Amino acid sequence: MGTTASSSSPLRIGLAGLGTVGAGVIRLLQSNGDLIAGRAGRPIEVTAVSARERGKDRGVDISGFAWEDDMTALAARDDVDVVVELVGGSDGPALTLSRAAFNGGKSLVTANKAMIAHHGMELARQAEAGGHALKFEAAVAGGIPVVKGLREGASANELTRVYGILNGTCNYILTTMEATGADFGETLAEAQALGYAEADPTFDIEGVDAAHKLAILATIGFGVELDFANVDTVGIVQVRAADIAQADALGFVIRLIGEADVQNDADGPKLLQRVRPCLVAKDHPLAPVDGPTNAVVAEGNYVGRLLFQGAGAGDGPTASAVVADLIDIARGDVGTPFSAPVDALAKLAPAEPGGRMGRAYLRFTVNDRPGVLAEITAAMRDADVSIESLIQLGLQKAGGGSDDNEVLVAMVTHEGPEANVGKALALLDGSDSLTGEPLVLPIMA
Ligand SMILES: NC(=O)c1ccc[n+]([C@@H]2O[C@H](COP(=O)([O-])OP(=O)(O)OC[C@H]3O[C@@H](n4cnc5c(N)ncnc54)[C@H](OP(=O)(O)O)[C@@H]3O)[C@@H](O)[C@H]2O)c1
Repeated sequence: MGTTASSSSPLRIGLAGLGTVGAGVIRLLQSNGDLIAGRAGRPIEVTAVSARERGKDRGVDISGFAWEDDMTALAARDDVDVVVELVGGSDGPALTLSRAAFNGGKSLVTANKAMIAHHGMELARQAEAGGHALKFEAAVAGGIPVVKGLREGASANELTRVYGILNGTCNYILTTMEATGADFGETLAEAQALGYAEADPTFDIEGVDAAHKLAILATIGFGVELDFANVDTVGIVQVRAADIAQADALGFVIRLIGEADVQNDADGPKLLQRVRPCLVAKDHPLAPVDGPTNAVVAEGNYVGRLLFQGAGAGDGPTASAVVADLIDIARGDVGTPFSAPVDALAKLAPAEPGGRMGRAYLRFTVNDRPGVLAEITAAMRDADVSIESLIQLGLQKAGGGSDDNEVLVAMVTHEGPEANVGKALALLDGSDSLTGEPLVLPIMA
């Protein structure tokens, strides 16, 4: 490959995707070119590009680059050392190009968390077999150097837990609901109008994007095989303004948290990976993280608690991460894609859902009639869930809903087996006292 450190010849880039991030990379390479060449020890130059529409105005000058209609052709070009994939999508053209890059003897840099979460093991194996680099700093938390931070900076530690705010769209929505008292639908529409949410926000608001990033972080943090399929994922769609108000009254904020840890059960270590809206104490370092910001906390046995925080998206921050990967490759750093060679990554069984101890916030919407509260508290008692506090409010007063006959019952449990909450809900399943699905939010320890 043409990516050795000793060379002072330029590192030549074939860039696929000229959207938000792709154009950002070109802008950054053009404006900081001298600084980047100084740090990399050689210039980094785009030689060829590809996107769908050749004539589109992208706000950057691409006239000096060769154009490929078929982006896979970038992988076969003699004047390309590194393919940069900024197209997106877990499969399809991005994956075809990535495989072709390694087959063509190139290294690959990508910002594509969906592709890495689904196919990272295969691609890493291919990269390692050929002695090529596979780097994806921009895939997790945009501009925040958390992949490098955990893979290199914290690599001497046994990490016990990695968790954080991994999706800027959800964080913007939740913190805006907190600030304005508005409900979810209204706030989502506003986020879309302001460009903080996609026209199709499904992957963000249902937690899938955060789950992609969490699976990658778990692999890097714990040296385990990627296991996206077992990320227990719940998004923010069910969170009401009333929940945020209740959480506030109890001393918490609500954040969408991706959390991973390894616990040693009697029959071996198990990997917990879950994405959930959680109650976070107001004095926790993640509580003040607002707007589209991302933040990741990692706890290591020697380093203690690390906090990474910054812009999780946007052209500039994401391009910053992509180009940092290119600088590493220009310096001759092939490394391993994850924190250990693929064959050394441990294969862990997923943790049993509900197998942990914890506190939870529970919210029911119920018919306003005698006996309902007693029915709910009886289910809690029968499932051995101990209630720490309980609030009952008319929905109008609670900031949501319009039905005068509906009330909201919110409670916080004492610490206990999470599975017991599930048992209590099962006892209430089908009850005609409930007017909607109950909401259960873990309280972050
Ligand atoms: N945006 C962010 O802040 C951010 C942050 C972190 C990671 N990422 C990741 O970065 C990647 C790119 O995101 P983005 O926001 O830059 O996306 P984007 O603005 O939608 O740009 C996608 C680019 O890919 C091109 N493209 C799409 N399908 C193609 C095809 N079949 N053949 C050739 N080109 C094709 C598009 O071409 P045309 O322009 O001609 O349509 C466009 O230039 C994604 O994996 C995303 O998850 C983005």
